Amino acid sequence: MSEHGSPWLVGDSPDYPVLVAEEAADVVVVGAGITGLTTALRLAEGGARVAVVEAGKVAAGTTGHTTGKVTSQHGAIYRYLIRHHGEDSARSYAQANQQAIEKVAHFATQPGNESGFVRAPAYIYALTAEEAQELEEEQAAAASLGLPARITDQTGLPFPVEVALVFDDQAFVDAGRYCRALAAAVAAAGGAIFENSRITDVEEDGGVVEVHGGGGSVKAGAAVIATLLPIADRGGFFARTRPSRSYGIAGRMSAPAPPGMYISAGSPTRSLRPWPGGGDTGFVIVGESHEPGDPEATPGRWGALERWANDHFDVESFEFRWSAQDYATADSVPYVGRSPRTQNVYVATGFRKWGLTNATVAADILANLIGGEDHPHARVFDAGRIGDAAAVGKAVKDNLHVAGHMVGDRLRRLLAPSISELVPGEGRIVEADGQTVAAYRSSDGSLHVVSATCTHLGCTVKWNEAETSWDCPCHGSRFDVDGSVLTAPATKPLEVMADFVPEPEDLDQ
Ligand code: FES
Repeated sequence: MSEHGSPWLVGDSPDYPVLVAEEAADVVVVGAGITGLTTALRLAEGGARVAVVEAGKVAAGTTGHTTGKVTSQHGAIYRYLIRHHGEDSARSYAQANQQAIEKVAHFATQPGNESGFVRAPAYIYALTAEEAQELEEEQAAAASLGLPARITDQTGLPFPVEVALVFDDQAFVDAGRYCRALAAAVAAAGGAIFENSRITDVEEDGGVVEVHGGGGSVKAGAAVIATLLPIADRGGFFARTRPSRSYGIAGRMSAPAPPGMYISAGSPTRSLRPWPGGGDTGFVIVGESHEPGDPEATPGRWGALERWANDHFDVESFEFRWSAQDYATADSVPYVGRSPRTQNVYVATGFRKWGLTNATVAADILANLIGGEDHPHARVFDAGRIGDAAAVGKAVKDNLHVAGHMVGDRLRRLLAPSISELVPGEGRIVEADGQTVAAYRSSDGSLHVVSATCTHLGCTVKWNEAETSWDCPCHGSRFDVDGSVLTAPATKPLEVMADFVPEPEDLDQ
């Protein structure tokens, strides 16, 4: 039976204190994933007093649930970037992400660093002639931007492919250990780190930013909001991005795993890399993406990945199952920089599941901007940009989709079944005493009843059977069965509806 959780989050993790006092810093960073920690390290090494405040544990958000691929090969994106952003911007994106590999390498290969950094080629493989043609065109685009892109039919995979587009000299890491090493470096450089301290408010007055959460606050000259999708979002990023969830499995084969990093050109997407933590036969596979709130957010998603693994490899065991969430912008380039309608609040979001290099780029840009310097790639990633006509059209369509949830899901509430129909292990939007609520009956029969209304902007949450959570289809906030926040942009928990929880003696009836 697979363990539920990411292979990057096992092992000892140092404990950092909870934020309980009124603290002061030059820069406060909200979020201790790779974006927040890399930015904090750049700033601390430059002499700034930095405080990092994390809602849970270091790396326990999206960074600790990625594939850990460190590559400028972000799917077949470079033809798209040239077409929609122009050749100069596409080159800037390509070179920034290619340079980020070397920045990760520089940190991860320092003496004593145990981030599990391994150089490996990255492949996109084609299974059809049509996919092969697209990869040929993508290779020409990527090579024209200076990327180490070539076409090959030698992949190291145990099944035939038409061709593959390979980027040489890319890398992978253990994303959890990489972040823990970053946190240790931040602390060694004089930075303060606080864990288990969810920031709920970000205030700015006269250019001074104050964040509140945990049991305290931090006042600073600038804030970096590195919470996947920014909390306290004045820049409207919730309306300019779309969330996506994906699923991961890790296991062992009967022979050494293919040595490279792989992703399919076609559907369904399958992303593969070695998992050295599982020995030389260890592997990680990620895929099965969908938007939050999808009714098919079930354990069957992991089952599909395991079937694919068994069909293509001689699998000895499956060890881990987990899922992750990330956001994509309407024009596929992250938003990085000062948030619109603020003076000193900075953001980075929309990494489109290629966060390890994009976050490293973002950290460099943010550290420069906060320090009053320009950055050669800042314009391309500008957080205030609108995008071309296609991006605007996509954003409009995405928001109509969200509006459909806001209205349609409220109407569907009228058809909710009675709370008495819930069976053990089931979560549903149900009717109880004339109210519509979100209810989960655990396997021991106990009921957990919370408000069905997302605390971000009021959409109706949906049950995620795979993760036993309430997920919002509008902008991706997620809540535990007790209502507590699992994933931003929401910062407030779902209200607990204690009146609808029967007394223990009623459960036996
Ligand atoms: Fe925005 Fe729920 S995440 S309304």
